[in-house]
Order: sequence, then C-alpha cells, then structure tokens
Amino acid sequence: MITVIGISGSLRKGSYNSGLLRAAVETAPEDCTVDVVSIKGIPLYDGDVEETEGIPEVVEGIKGRIEKADALLLVTPEYNNSVPGLFKNAMDWLSRPPQDRARVFESKPVGLMGASIGPLGTVNAQTAWLPVFRVLNMRIWFGKQLYVGGALNLFDESGNLVDENTKKRVASYMSAFVEHVAAQKQNG
Ligand code: FNR
Repeated sequence: MITVIGISGSLRKGSYNSGLLRAAVETAPEDCTVDVVSIKGIPLYDGDVEETEGIPEVVEGIKGRIEKADALLLVTPEYNNSVPGLFKNAMDWLSRPPQDRARVFESKPVGLMGASIGPLGTVNAQTAWLPVFRVLNMRIWFGKQLYVGGALNLFDESGNLVDENTKKRVASYMSAFVEHVAAQKQNG
C-alpha cells in the first residue's frame, strides 16, 4: 500500500484547492491512500518562538506524518503569481530545524497540482515553489503537470470538483504519480 500525505495550501471553507485534493483522494488508485493534513493552526514563523519554545506541536505532528508516508502531494493556490504566504509559512516551519530536513523531506517523492480562478491554473505558483523544493532537496515529480484554471466553472460553491473532464485529469495524474512512488519505494 502506498501512503501519501496531501496538503492543501488554502484555509478557505469552499477552497478549490482543498476540493482538488479531495478529488485526488477519491480518484487515487486502489493501492494508495491519501491522508489529508491541514495546515490550519500553524503560527506565523518567529525565530524567537523557535528558540524559546521549540517547534510547535502542530508542526512536529505534521513532520512526523510526512516522515512516515511514502510521498507528499501539495495542492497550491496562486496568490499574485506566486506561492501563498500561509502555505510557504507552513513549509518554512516544516523545514525546521535544519537537521530534521533530511528525515522529513529528502528521498520523498513530491506531487504538485493547483487550482486558480485565472486561466493559467497556478502555473506561476507551481514554478515559484521550485526553488523551495530545490533547497529542501525534495524529489519533485515532473512526470505530469496539473494546472486547473478557470476554477469558477469547475467547482461548486462548496469547493467540490464537479467537472468530469478535470476529474479525469486528476485521476490520470494520481495514477501516474502513484506508479512512480511505488517504483521508487521498490528501488529503496
Ligand atoms: C488571488 N487569486 C489569483 N488567481 C490567479 O489565477 N492568479 C493570481 O495571481 C491570483 N492572485 C491572488 C491573490 C490573492 C491575495 C488572492 C486572495 C487571490 C485568486 C485565487 O485563484 C482564488 O482566490 C482561489 O479561490 C484561491 O484558491 P482557494 O482558496 O479557492 O483554494
């Protein structure tokens, strides 16, 4: 069984990206479970807090879950052509302290997808993530790309993906991603 931790970068109740992640959960192949982890409650990064109080419990909890999983799936919104601050903030906390990075992120295949209202469907946000993945030595998977643009027409008011063609694209992404993760796992 392949286990994937899925994280949406939006806290909005009717979030398209959380809806896209739910679609990924639903369309994942049978030999895969995607556990959704929320970044709600992660405080703003503050070096003084880290020094005096250590890593927040909520962050340590997520780090532990990522470490145990076979792969990570990040579902990113796009804010001002880039990564949303709250999602970046979550990744910044998750990357602390530096000596934990290897066990949390290295050798972990990472999938990336996103939905936005604009026509480009988070192309810019996904590109903006790349330097972050590089410095964390994450194994981003480039086998398929999933940019979901024009989200207003594809999701309902609760943020559920209702467009059948997009669901097929999500299923196709998940199938190929999980195949890749399984191959990586087999190769150690
Ligand atoms: C946006 N949005 C947006 N959309 C886009 O396609 N390109 C962009 O650069 C931006 N920029 C942007 C900045 C800020 C500050 C906000 C709040 C929004 C719109 C965005 O796609 C929309 O709010 C989505 O609904 C965000 O994703 P969730 O919350 O639905 O998952």
